[in-house]
Amino acid sequence: MTLPVNSLEEHWMPFTANRDFKQDPRLVVRSEGVHLWDHRGGRLLDGCSGLFCVAAGHGRAEIAEAVREQLATNDYIAPFQLAHPGGFALARQVAALTPGDLNHVFFTNSGSEAVDTAIKIAMAYHTARGEQGRVRFVTRERAYHGVNIGGTSLAGLVKNRDAYPTLMPYVAAMRHTWLEENRFVRGQGAHGGVELANDLQRLVETYGGHSIAACFVEPVAGSTGCLVPPVGYLERLREICDAHGILLVFDEVICGFGRLGAPFAAQAFGVMPDMITMAKALTNGAQPMGAVAVRDSIYETVTEAAPEGAIELFHGYTYSAHPAACAAGLAALEIYRKEKLFERAADLSEHFLDAVFSLRDLELVTDVRGFGLFAGFDIAPGAVPGARGAALQKALFWNGLHVKFTGDVGLIAPPLIVERDEIDAMVRILRETIADFARTA
Ligand SMILES: Cc1ncc(COP(=O)(O)O)c(C=O)c1O
Repeated sequence: MTLPVNSLEEHWMPFTANRDFKQDPRLVVRSEGVHLWDHRGGRLLDGCSGLFCVAAGHGRAEIAEAVREQLATNDYIAPFQLAHPGGFALARQVAALTPGDLNHVFFTNSGSEAVDTAIKIAMAYHTARGEQGRVRFVTRERAYHGVNIGGTSLAGLVKNRDAYPTLMPYVAAMRHTWLEENRFVRGQGAHGGVELANDLQRLVETYGGHSIAACFVEPVAGSTGCLVPPVGYLERLREICDAHGILLVFDEVICGFGRLGAPFAAQAFGVMPDMITMAKALTNGAQPMGAVAVRDSIYETVTEAAPEGAIELFHGYTYSAHPAACAAGLAALEIYRKEKLFERAADLSEHFLDAVFSLRDLELVTDVRGFGLFAGFDIAPGAVPGARGAALQKALFWNGLHVKFTGDVGLIAPPLIVERDEIDAMVRILRETIADFARTA
């Protein structure tokens, strides 16, 4: 079939093998509910909510209408020293969803910007308290915190930092939380939680807690393969941070907005961070938007340190709290509330995990993990690491399923509106495609 575009050459695609893609393109030309349509007319199940974005499914008319209406009445307002009502309304609703006193929300345009904003807020907070000596940031092996310089500096995936020699200094990494003992365990593994979290204690003992500004973790490490924190892990990180004045930041760009069966992972695991970064499902993916929610004490410390009438935080984006993104966010949150989608994710979780864990008997599948409506599975690598994952992703696409792969790790995160039979269909396609692949690999 002819492609619906004149040329594929000019668009330099992100995180894509451009030369390969352009020889064997996969274009999506329509999307609705949990389905996508490719350029050859085939229909696929969206097993990854796009890129973990469309919690309420594709093509939500309420969101489209809210954005249209917003653009028609108030399309753009300078966000520095001016504002529009939608920014305040959305911040209030986001604050109501976050736990405890994370009541102040700074808007960005992506998850990457949310992470870099959280880094800068941590620095500004400690500066305001006279603790400029807190120059270090703690991250974790296998972490993904976006692609701006701050997030890249925190990256725990070597490919994401290899080509960029000049990053932030003073970043130290804890071990990742994948453990052989927790292989094929649903939910939180029983082993190693406190011991792995004590990596932070070791960094405190090596560098001095007074030199550490913040510890960033994805509560469930997402892009790297849905690594669920073992029992006691997040609690122990919280304890160590409290003991040493270190800010604990949960990067919930994937976990947030119901993916784990609660508004945020913070509630799903019952651990309160000092900041939460979010994006993706904040607008159901319909407009680019991210945000950082911070505790009252952080907001108050930074704002009160500045003289009356002065700007308190020298940071912001031309499109911070963009009216169309706020309209999309408000409409998305309304759908989540009305359709009780976070509760729905919790209810569906058992069926979903049963289905995905049924893949464990396949020869090529070496681990399965999952929590809520999020799961990951490992494929035994071939001679070239990542090659099997890339080939499988393509084969799955043409067999009717979109999922994300990071190297040889597959990620499944369907829209929260998915039906049980659609989950079964996704897993059937996975089973057949992986089994087929094993025969020819
Ligand atoms: C945990 C986490 N942080 C940050 C990001 C970056 O978000 P964005 O791609 O919107 O910049 C992602 C994206 O997948 C993510 O998973």
